[in-house]
Amino acid sequence: MRIVLLGPPGAGKGTQSARLTKCFEIEHLSTGDILRTEVSKTTELSLVIKKYMDKGDLVPDHLIIDMIKDRVSNTAGFLLDGFPRTLKQAEALDTALEVCNQPLDAVLYFEVNVNELIERLSKRLICQSCFSTYNLITSPPISKGICDSCSGIVAWRTDDKPESIKHRMSVFNDQTFPLIEYYKRRDLLKKIDATGDLDEVFIRIKKVIVG
Ligand code: AP5
Repeated sequence: MRIVLLGPPGAGKGTQSARLTKCFEIEHLSTGDILRTEVSKTTELSLVIKKYMDKGDLVPDHLIIDMIKDRVSNTAGFLLDGFPRTLKQAEALDTALEVCNQPLDAVLYFEVNVNELIERLSKRLICQSCFSTYNLITSPPISKGICDSCSGIVAWRTDDKPESIKHRMSVFNDQTFPLIEYYKRRDLLKKIDATGDLDEVFIRIKKVIVG
């Protein structure tokens, strides 16, 4: 199974990925998590990446494509979360999958209205070690500030400041939204109503995947 999750910041891609990878036993490839791991190393490259991420800009295509293309080619099944985000990335993904003769099965587009997205992101917390996602209101960790999964520190994401959230929304509209048409034309796009209870959203996604 090779699936792409597409949706604006805060749509619940990371949250639902955690459930889907467990349920379908496929690998979760999150470019946000891959980049956050790189940033935690404090190398020359990580300082460059951090600048883009903190502002809410996309990391340049050539950097992210280099990071992801071997991973998708070497994995039988995956859930791609946060990639592709530009037409150039989508074309690079098509090429990588063509080479290994493993086409995509579906692209799931998470739909949530903008006010709800802002509300979710302004209350989001993540584990600094394993990147598990929490929400101050709807899904806080059992012990305040401690990750349920790995006991790491749970804190705000540095790109969840109001000005970065606003910028990330406009970056999504300008650079990622055109992918909806791109995948519609390839008959791969499936829309998901990603509002409401976490379990309800999960059931809707499962229905779309298994038919
Ligand atoms: P990334 O980490 O991918 O961020 P994003 O796409 O902006 O998405 P988010 O992680 O913000 O949201 P999400 O949809 O995963 O929502 P979540 O499940 O957390 O990317 C970060 C940065 O990395 C980018 O800005 C860019 O700089 C760089 N980057 C990454 N990929 C790149 C690429 N391909 N090219 C270039 N640059 C790249 O949920 C959000 C909150 O809502 C949580 O608190 C959660 O608990 C809550 N929630 C979830 N579902 C529900 C629900 N149904 N009801 C109520 N609350 C909910």
